[in-house]
Amino acid sequence: MIGIIAAMQSEAEELIRKMKYKRTATVSGAKYTRGKLFGVDAVVCVCGVGKVRAGVCAEVMALKYKPDYIINTGVAGTLTDKLSIGGIAIAKDAVQHDFDTTALGDPRGGCFIDGKFEIYIKSDKKLVKLFEKAAKAENLAYVTGTVATGDCFVAGNDKKAEIVKYFPSAVCCEMEGGAIATVCFINKIPFAIVRAISDSADGGSPDDFPEFLRQAVANSIRVLERVIKEL
Ligand code: ADE
Repeated sequence: MIGIIAAMQSEAEELIRKMKYKRTATVSGAKYTRGKLFGVDAVVCVCGVGKVRAGVCAEVMALKYKPDYIINTGVAGTLTDKLSIGGIAIAKDAVQHDFDTTALGDPRGGCFIDGKFEIYIKSDKKLVKLFEKAAKAENLAYVTGTVATGDCFVAGNDKKAEIVKYFPSAVCCEMEGGAIATVCFINKIPFAIVRAISDSADGGSPDDFPEFLRQAVANSIRVLERVIKEL
């Protein structure tokens, strides 16, 4: 069983349309669609925007569906000149860029989990390789790096620069991946994040995001389809 999480309906609707033998369940306000996706047992959920909704969804998936993998798909703002609109960001790890207990002397972006301070939560290496292979096969530009997650839509160069200053390996910003990664880590579920770039996380983002959303979603789904077919 694979679990797939997207924040918005538009990021998952094509996958849900392609599922066979569908059954749905609503848990804690989110709809889980279970069935066969390209021959693989899967559950897809549109979790809602932000870390809380994403964390709740990943936990429900972990407890109710016991997936072998959880994959987070969708769009993101770029934090690197190596990725422009339509390009693919693959998470080698994820960080919560807005997690900040620095006033207490901690490093930024992390917290204690099982007695250890965790900042960068690592993706499953096998999945990362499959996503890289899939992006190549689809002829899409891709970069593997850190996905930086926070409860804000980044739309300014100052905020962008701040994220990259604290997390130099960050390649994109979005609002769910780091929460899903943390829940997967706690539950020992291998995970991956694949995001297509919809905007540059700058002053143009409020216009670019709605304009390029569809194109970006289509690219992330192309890559994800290939990976699912290989699982
Ligand atoms: N998702 C897509 N673009 C984003 C941005 N600029 N900030 C946060 N999440 C995003």
